[in-house]
Amino acid sequence: MSRRRFYFPLLCLCALPVAARHPVRERNAMVVAQEPHATDIGVAVLKSGGNAVDAAVAVAFALAVTHPAAGNLGGGGFLLVRTAKGETAFFDFRERAPGKATRDMYLDAAGKLTRDSLVGWRAAGVPGTVHGLETAHKRFGGKPWAGLVEPAIQLARGFPVSYALAESLKNSAKLLSRFPESNRIFLRNGHPYEKDETLAQPELARTLERIAQHGAREFYEGETARKLAQAMQAGGGLITLEDLKDYRTVVRKPLTGSYHGYDVISAPPPSSGGVGLLQMMGMLEDSGYQKHGAGSAAAIHYVAEVMRRSYADRSEHLADPDFFKVPLSGLLSKQYLARQRAGIQPDRASTSDEVRPGKPSPEESTETTHFSIVDQQGNAAALTYTINGGYGNGVTVPGLGFLLNNEMDDFAAKPGEPNLFSLVQGEANAIQPNKRPLSSMTPTILLKDGKLFLVLGAPGGSRIITGVLQVILNVTDFGMNAQEAIDAARFHHQWLPDKLSLERGFSPDTIALLKARGHAVDTISGVALVEAIMAEKGWLAGGTDRRGHGKAEGF
Ligand code: GLY
Repeated sequence: MSRRRFYFPLLCLCALPVAARHPVRERNAMVVAQEPHATDIGVAVLKSGGNAVDAAVAVAFALAVTHPAAGNLGGGGFLLVRTAKGETAFFDFRERAPGKATRDMYLDAAGKLTRDSLVGWRAAGVPGTVHGLETAHKRFGGKPWAGLVEPAIQLARGFPVSYALAESLKNSAKLLSRFPESNRIFLRNGHPYEKDETLAQPELARTLERIAQHGAREFYEGETARKLAQAMQAGGGLITLEDLKDYRTVVRKPLTGSYHGYDVISAPPPSSGGVGLLQMMGMLEDSGYQKHGAGSAAAIHYVAEVMRRSYADRSEHLADPDFFKVPLSGLLSKQYLARQRAGIQPDRASTSDEVRPGKPSPEESTETTHFSIVDQQGNAAALTYTINGGYGNGVTVPGLGFLLNNEMDDFAAKPGEPNLFSLVQGEANAIQPNKRPLSSMTPTILLKDGKLFLVLGAPGGSRIITGVLQVILNVTDFGMNAQEAIDAARFHHQWLPDKLSLERGFSPDTIALLKARGHAVDTISGVALVEAIMAEKGWLAGGTDRRGHGKAEGF
């Protein structure tokens, strides 16, 4: 059955059933993750009395085994928590540039960008995942740490390869085969895994055993740290024992705002996610764009113009707040966003040449994976973490069994030149020692009348923010259920390159109307994979992205 949404005139809707999938609905608790073993482990933790943060720790370790393209020990990310009592915290365990990193480390003698920020040892930032999970567990966890790592250890000893994993490994053979340890573990030295064969990762199992027994200190100061630093040196990478020892998770205040009566809680810098989301919502609020209807050319045009303006600001005004003064209140001020909105023409696309990064009011006072969890008490966790590109920099650390990130590419390796996600970024996000690269990860929670309403987030590089935005708009402005909202065809504009990218599923008529407004339209297959939980009428509704292979499960 086709899962594509069709938009009929209102009269037709009265006569025909709407082609919408239903979310998974349960009364008590829900886990939505991109890989089924991980979802099952999260549910088991919740059933045994663990809370949402306990489950998040167990799911994150499980994904590091079963979803090696993005789940990780060698990367970093963000965890947004909201407790049933209303307390919120944002755990920033983003990678940091090594202490020896320099601004121009990825330029050759002629000043041209090399590929070193993407592939190989030098692409890795100092991993934050294990530190972040332990920090969150210490603050909110209830179950013993070792028991939360244990299911991942079991999986690392061997689990059946899914169709999705077999395909993903084959598709990444070019990268993985460049590095002997990755070639051996993930490609069996040229004999790729088929569905249902067992993938055993004994080195990873042993690393996880040490983490289970000794906690994050083992990763940052113990045997794991020593082996990682030695391998780095041998491979020509920059991360030292000192870098690992110095790594800290930062617990930040989440960014908050409101949209059409909902409270929005999202990711602060060093992610651009929450700022982007709130900027776009701020321009959409009071615009009346939604009266044109979901999927209409007029609504897509308007939202795309809003995206264009927000991504232009991203290019100049956002970076690690510990290194760069982000003009946060200016970027989010109602007056500034109203000024930005005033430049949008309803019937004509701007060009990105004419839309430059704005001048916000002066500051008054400042491949990835996602899962969402709600527990029996109503505590919520939204965790997005990553090694950046699929399988990161391609390097599996000998003897440790985990892949390293290529997060250094999220910096502006050469300000003004596009990165992996074609994002053009400025001086604010240039490389500096110990700095965190700007991210687009957008773990987000919405409240309605002060109560938990929506928990969501996504992988997808620069398309994360626009994906999360559209799912929220589909729910709040167009009345869709969690699954419909995720399934609906999406679009994306990021200022540069100046094009409106549409997923398949929009009608030729709609596309023609967008072109007539002046948009340079192209078709994309990859959009953010949103995993969401919506609380409605006493139910938790779990929606997992039809474009991926995830699983929503609860009880
Ligand atoms: N590595 C993708 C992001 O953090 O936005």
